[in-house]
Amino acid sequence: MQHRKIAFIGAGNMSKSIISGLVKNGYPASSIFASNPSRPKLDELHNTLGIQISQSNAEVVAQCDVIVLAVKPQLMEQMCSDLAASNTLDGKLFISIAAGLPVKRLQEMLQGQDKVIRTMPNTPSALGKGMTGLFAPENISTADKEYAGQLLKHVGEIAWVNEESLIDSVIAAAGSSPAYFFAFLEAMQQEAERQGIDHDTARLLVQQAMLGAAEMVCHNPQLEISELRAQVTSKGGTTAKALESFAAHNLSDIVAKSMQAAVARAQEMARTF
Ligand SMILES: NC(=O)c1ccc[n+]([C@@H]2O[C@H](COP(=O)([O-])OP(=O)(O)OC[C@H]3O[C@@H](n4cnc5c(N)ncnc54)[C@H](OP(=O)(O)O)[C@@H]3O)[C@@H](O)[C@H]2O)c1
Repeated sequence: MQHRKIAFIGAGNMSKSIISGLVKNGYPASSIFASNPSRPKLDELHNTLGIQISQSNAEVVAQCDVIVLAVKPQLMEQMCSDLAASNTLDGKLFISIAAGLPVKRLQEMLQGQDKVIRTMPNTPSALGKGMTGLFAPENISTADKEYAGQLLKHVGEIAWVNEESLIDSVIAAAGSSPAYFFAFLEAMQQEAERQGIDHDTARLLVQQAMLGAAEMVCHNPQLEISELRAQVTSKGGTTAKALESFAAHNLSDIVAKSMQAAVARAQEMARTF
């Protein structure tokens, strides 16, 4: 891929995950810049990954062709307005990773800069196992789209959506969902402990079961997930009884309503910020 000079504005958790993936996969550290108001996170990135750092957003932006907008959504407007005042933004490509901020709103915040791609990564990006959804409006060139896709492929899988509203569904399905799986595992670990298994063993049981199940899904793309479920469910057996109990408590409905709540919150954030 092209190794354009890229600046991360905001050196928090998500930037750190993506930058680590880039450097580990051969993106030259000399082409990666990060800025942040406080120093410790920058120093850590510089010392561990060798990237270029500054406490001045304007300084890193001036040196780069691609700008990753990676501050919290509620801080984006002020940050972008300060950047726009630096008069160094023309022609640059902006890649936002912020939840709930539509492209149009970001273009306004950037005072008319229109090359904005919206993405939604998730935290497993830190392990190179991320899932990122991307949306590019029509004015974005094929070369810029390809660059953004290849960039995020450094930290996992990617999926483009054709309509911006579907980014909210990406948030519900992949951005927020690692936490759903954690919640499910927490509940399983608690019940295993309640049944008498010690804490550490209970964790090992559920985490290894989850890892094995996830790998079975990934290694068998030709099989629907429902078929994998059927394959481990003997008629009248223990798994069947557990699944019957899930169905009786409307697990599908619980999951659907929870994902709808995530989408509704993303829509609310778009109106708020
Ligand atoms: N975490 C996730 O799972 C996840 C997933 C997808 C997308 N996102 C999005 O990623 C973005 C960052 O999230 P995060 O979890 O990485 O948050 P985070 O760890 O809080 O990082 C945000 C960073 O921005 C810095 N910052 C604050 N004001 C700034 C400014 N004016 N200029 C430059 N940097 C500034 C903060 O610095 P100080 O701490 O020094 O104030 C902090 O280091 C958010 O928009 C979020 O919606 C997060």
